[in-house]
Amino acid sequence: MDRIRIKGGAELNGVIPISGAKNAALPLMTASLLTGETLELRNVPRLADVNLLLRILGNHGVDHTITGKRPGQTAETGQTIRLDASSVIDTCAPYELVSRMRASFWVIAPLIARFGEARVSMPGGCAIGTRPVDLLLKALETMGVQIDVDGGYVVAKAAKGLRGAEVRFPKVTVSGTHVALMAATLAEGTTVIENAAREPEVADLASCLTKMGAKIEGAGTSRIVIDGVARLHGATHSVMPDRIETGTYAMAVAMTGGDVVLENTRAEYLQSALEVLQQVGASVEGTKDGIRVHRNGSGLRPVDVTTDPFPGFPTDLQAQFMALMTKAEGTSRIRETIFENRFMHVQELARLGARIRLDGDAAIVEGVERLKGAPVMATDLRASVSLVIAALAAEGETDIHRVYHLDRGFEALEAKLGRCGAQIERISG
Ligand code: UD1
Repeated sequence: MDRIRIKGGAELNGVIPISGAKNAALPLMTASLLTGETLELRNVPRLADVNLLLRILGNHGVDHTITGKRPGQTAETGQTIRLDASSVIDTCAPYELVSRMRASFWVIAPLIARFGEARVSMPGGCAIGTRPVDLLLKALETMGVQIDVDGGYVVAKAAKGLRGAEVRFPKVTVSGTHVALMAATLAEGTTVIENAAREPEVADLASCLTKMGAKIEGAGTSRIVIDGVARLHGATHSVMPDRIETGTYAMAVAMTGGDVVLENTRAEYLQSALEVLQQVGASVEGTKDGIRVHRNGSGLRPVDVTTDPFPGFPTDLQAQFMALMTKAEGTSRIRETIFENRFMHVQELARLGARIRLDGDAAIVEGVERLKGAPVMATDLRASVSLVIAALAAEGETDIHRVYHLDRGFEALEAKLGRCGAQIERISG
């Protein structure tokens, strides 16, 4: 298995192009199942999760083509994928595939909406606490879907099609909102989603669905209204920038010091995290097509943070921020309110010399002057990149094992950091 070796201590200086968002690309690709015409997605990141979803879609009968290089494109420009679900032959998503990535469960929505049936394995994915699908299924039931569980599979049926309904989520759920939104586009009548997730990825999905002929209002707010249509058609859509990748590199620069421009991204997608970085002592400015982050010399101030649904501080940046706070001049408290058990990075950060104590749903981080390189293990996607951030500022060498977690969500990580001066290499085998 590959590992990543980082020799800490170097500042980051230069330009990092931000990729298309994994968390937008996955629902967008899933939405291809809603139409028999071609959906062309641009700026799709080259990630293991994208490839896995292509396999899952392929298993349903979806063809895909990935276009070749075009003038001006580099290996990191993002790929253009055309998805063609005109001949879906199988509405079952099997355990072997779905158990490896939670988001693949979402195929249940377009399958049931377009074909009136779906059989989808209960999901897997990152081991970050229990991640149930009860709210997704309840939303579908509200829209007239009959749900049974059989041998680890969710069996959904709606012989007469879906009907519009009021879907009120008791807690904010991104997956629930994606599923309800996709299903509602082909339901008969109007669906109102209350307490919808306001994450930019939901708005990106809605924008693509609208290009496909869906009638949607309010995406990006907590109340989305969808008027169902009889069919959707093909469209071309460019995946939004990855706000989590943006925030991750912003935190890396705050950690090491230096001056980096994050290109092809937008500050408005991660305002709360950027504000926190400024409180910590980093300078953050918007540029024409991105964000400049720099920090020179000054120490890191400790800041308390609580994760929240958008526009709050994202849970997907919690581990990275904790890495940053391990070197703050004082104690910070980081509270995780979205996922239980999302603190598996704590013990690995401790191997580098971090002082962190858990207190219920919070981590108390006592900043230390020095981190020291050590062998560590990536445990989940965001946790593993927190180890990268810590390693960049640790003395000596850190080997990060199990980097397949990183490959699920960070495109060309070593190349992007390496070009900015980080001493980072991938060791195969
Ligand atoms: C998505 C993101 C993930 C991010 C998370 C929160 C993708 C592919 N993944 O995950 O990176 O960390 O949003 O921003 O986009 N819940 C239930 N029942 C359900 C569904 C969810 O109790 O049926 C709970 C979850 O356990 C969690 C909370 O709701 O505590 C939020 O989950 P949700 O927003 O659905 O996260 P995901 O969509 O899985």
